[in-house]
Amino acid sequence: ARIRHYRWEVKYEFKSPDCYRKLVITINGRTPGPTILAQKGDTIVVDLKNSLLTENVAIHWHGIRQIGTPWADGTEGVTQCPILPGDTFRYKFVVDRAGTYMYHAHYGMQREAGLYGSIRVAGEDEPFVYDYDRSIILNDWYHRSTYEQAAGLSSVPFVWVGDPQSLLIQGKGRFNCSTPGTAAGVCNATNPECSPYVFTVVPGKTYRLRIGSLTALAALSFEIEGHNLTVVEADGHYVEPFVVKNLYIYSGETYSVLVTANQDPTRNYWVVSKMVSRNNTTPNGLAIFNYYPNHPTRSPPTIPPSGPRWNDVEARVNQSLAIRSHPNYIHPVPQTSDRVIILLNTQNTINGFRKWSINNISFTLPHTPYLVSLKHNLLHTFDQTPPPDIINNYEGYDINIVQPNVNATSSNSLYRLKYNTTVDIILQNANMMDANNSETHPWHLHGHDFWVVGYGNGKFNVSEDPKRYNLVNPIMKNTVLVHPYGWTALRFVADNPGVWAFHCHIESHFYMGMGTVFEEGIEKVTKLPSSIMGCGDTKRFLQP
Ligand code: C2O
Ligand code: CU
Repeated sequence: ARIRHYRWEVKYEFKSPDCYRKLVITINGRTPGPTILAQKGDTIVVDLKNSLLTENVAIHWHGIRQIGTPWADGTEGVTQCPILPGDTFRYKFVVDRAGTYMYHAHYGMQREAGLYGSIRVAGEDEPFVYDYDRSIILNDWYHRSTYEQAAGLSSVPFVWVGDPQSLLIQGKGRFNCSTPGTAAGVCNATNPECSPYVFTVVPGKTYRLRIGSLTALAALSFEIEGHNLTVVEADGHYVEPFVVKNLYIYSGETYSVLVTANQDPTRNYWVVSKMVSRNNTTPNGLAIFNYYPNHPTRSPPTIPPSGPRWNDVEARVNQSLAIRSHPNYIHPVPQTSDRVIILLNTQNTINGFRKWSINNISFTLPHTPYLVSLKHNLLHTFDQTPPPDIINNYEGYDINIVQPNVNATSSNSLYRLKYNTTVDIILQNANMMDANNSETHPWHLHGHDFWVVGYGNGKFNVSEDPKRYNLVNPIMKNTVLVHPYGWTALRFVADNPGVWAFHCHIESHFYMGMGTVFEEGIEKVTKLPSSIMGCGDTKRFLQP
């Protein structure tokens, strides 16, 4: 195993990823940032210099479990204090498993300012073959600053972020500069920064395309005109291969697909990302699938495929149901669990502010990171009343209607899990505050992979539904969907000492409280590095 050492400088720069000039956060001058390439077992060292001048930062290594290094998870308020302007913070951790992962900012809504990139960990025995390996990240893109969006979300009256202005494929998109209301001089359609991303292929070769989504909001459909995609990996786990024309991918998910350049090689093809799951005005993201030696920027002779209907929920649910673990790579799932936690996802109002809540609690981050508070018993730094494993009136709760009482409370309480026990989490979706509407939420767990043991429509039945769990070949993932008006059941073993966030990966939803935190085995966590301290009540540990 090797040590891979990176030196990154994070700063604001003016860029035009979709032809519209705005301030974005770059790493070493780029967004997306550099791709981390490693072999299974390598140690990654990132010396991160915060040159944002007036803004804190923290970076999360999405999909890396941080076994033995819970302080390197990069979750501000959970595992570390934010990195102050001018400071350099060292992240050091082992990539213990092959697969496709990502990294991104985990402070406020900073991720959507452009601070993200890919992690690719190569392993030895893969159950499929290909000639070349590529990574891309799909994203959505807003022109307003993250501050303006965050302020709107936390205002009365509530100001929603709205549809993204464009979709980016590996950091490149295209906004129509003649859109009414576009200020003169900020949008330049001929700027080379917004020339489409080009994926060049050699006729006859097979490519492993590693696709990650880090959208702030959008659920996406991804396709390559005229080419089938064979899905072989999801969130770092090999799946029983299945073929799709378009892949649905949600924020926080990664997939590897195999694509063979087996079509007419005398032309190029469109690569399309399309926003689905909510009615929207966002134009599709376009890139070029370029058959060598055609000119890379030559437009395909066809109209880009228009993609699936935005509201085809069934097709999206079917993809979730199609995913199975690869038969030779099944991680046996414990057949019973020790604890069941049912998390009801609702939209609420607290003192007039619009929120998302889990079991009627809208999550807020504490000022002292939990990892330090729990390790050092600073229990006054957050709410000690644990959130409930199930809401009081669960039986009587009608998930299909707008609730007569939409109040909730906010809290920074967390779930404490008994070390090494098996925990089932049921994510239960419900109607929002508008009639006849329930959204799709991609939930991401830090520090773990979990088995996805079941999906269902409607309300989870505590006594019947567990009988239908897939306890034979469920896929393991770190991000999973709860579909509209549906439920999703996960199982994991609380065997990774630390404190781990679990939240909806939609940036504005997490910001509005859609998340929670799990602690397990805190007594097994070894001495915390002082570099994660300095804020809130952790200051005491830095005093001489
Ligand atoms: Cu990729 Cu807590 O997030
Ligand atoms: Cu959500």
